[in-house]
Amino acid sequence: MMLQIPGVLPKAEVARLRAVIDAAEWVDGNVTSGHQAALAKANRQLPQTSPAAVEAGQAIVRALNASPLFMAAALPRTILPPLFNSYGLNDGFADHIDNAVRMNPATGQPIRTDLSITVFLTEPDAYDGGELLVEDTYGLHEVKLAAGDAILYPASSLHRVTPITRGARISSFFWIQSLIRDDGQRALLFDMDLAIQRLSGQLGGADPSVVGLTGAYHNLLRMWAEV
Ligand code: NI
Repeated sequence: MMLQIPGVLPKAEVARLRAVIDAAEWVDGNVTSGHQAALAKANRQLPQTSPAAVEAGQAIVRALNASPLFMAAALPRTILPPLFNSYGLNDGFADHIDNAVRMNPATGQPIRTDLSITVFLTEPDAYDGGELLVEDTYGLHEVKLAAGDAILYPASSLHRVTPITRGARISSFFWIQSLIRDDGQRALLFDMDLAIQRLSGQLGGADPSVVGLTGAYHNLLRMWAEV
């Protein structure tokens, strides 16, 4: 399941975070790539340990934790610290699938990458090219969102970033291990959650149909969640 999450960051917060990261020192993006990806990738990144990346990353994770839509869709177990990339003229990233396992730098523990997320930090009219293309079972999706918006998609999807032909595209990207490993199970729980919220809005939270459906949701979550 792919999901757009609008307005994760208000515009003023985007501007503040851009000021923080734009002033930092960027390095060749291949420092975080596996061998195969390194052949396909041309961009720059902030080093993971740079104070700017840490500060801006913490702000983004706080914003996501406060987003009911993100929480319902991702059911996060662990959110890896956000990384930041910058695609300048002619930069891009050819077709690849993200590494399945990454080390959590905070704990040294391996994290399974169930979901990938990109938070756009540049307005789309500031650059040409730089579309994120994601292939899933329904076909090829072209993603180019407003600054502050995010796209959440299965990390197992084949994806690429088309070459930049004007301007530069700066984004944050990172991975999430979900409580629910299977994309289909996670999508079903998300649909149920949305239906419960709608029904609760119409009938009130104490209505027996809302209580029953909420109970079913939690029993599925209890059956499937890996904690
Ligand atoms: Ni990728």
